[in-house]
Amino acid sequence: MNITEALNWRYATKRMNGHKIPTEKLNRILDAARLAPSSYGLQPYSVLVIEDEALREKISAVAYNQPQIMEASHLLVFAAMDSVDTHFVEEFIDLTALERGISADSMEDYKNTIIGAVNSFATNEERFHWAAKQAYISLGTTIAAAAAEQVDASPMEGFDPKELDILLGLKERGLRSVLLLPLGYRNTNADWLAGMKKVRWPRDKMFIRFPRASSPA
Ligand SMILES: Cc1cc2nc3c(=O)[nH]c(=O)nc-3n(C[C@H](O)[C@H](O)[C@H](O)COP(=O)(O)O)c2cc1C
Repeated sequence: MNITEALNWRYATKRMNGHKIPTEKLNRILDAARLAPSSYGLQPYSVLVIEDEALREKISAVAYNQPQIMEASHLLVFAAMDSVDTHFVEEFIDLTALERGISADSMEDYKNTIIGAVNSFATNEERFHWAAKQAYISLGTTIAAAAAEQVDASPMEGFDPKELDILLGLKERGLRSVLLLPLGYRNTNADWLAGMKKVRWPRDKMFIRFPRASSPA
């Protein structure tokens, strides 16, 4: 299955069948979340991987009881950092130096550029929104990877983030929840959306090409 076929196969699954995702498959999907690009490579977010049923029941209660939360194999919660700061950038520079076998001192100018960028937001809320945008890139990459693995994924913003943050103790970790992503397998008998045609704008509406494509002869 090529990437187009995989993306046509996937849909925002409303009902899942509770089957478990094999560990190796799950790990490949989680690796996609980790390998996603982000601004400066900072990855200012965490992904909670929740299998615990009792905890999922509590999450379901703050997410309009959407059935995928309990019917999924695993529930991912994407949570963005509340306030990326100078210390976090310094940690990232140290990691980069270690991974690449270079000195952190040689990265001083680059470090200051990033510190300047993360401190340039007018408000902490704007800084959080920037971090949340990075988390969404990871979400998209994870959804595509799940499709490539023939695993269903159902992105959800329909939950109460304040309540979920309390439930998961995210504030104490400097995080705020932005998205849920149940992962599992579709229940085609119960899901009203299964088999429905995908709806997307046509290519000539979405893509604005330069130079304009010449009409076929
Ligand atoms: C950021 C985001 C939030 C979404 N939130 C919900 C949600 O809370 N509940 C739900 O049933 N679907 C949710 N969806 C699914 C979309 O409705 C769905 O992706 C869209 O209709 C396109 O259909 P497809 O994903 O099946 O191709 C969300 C999708 C995204 C990307």
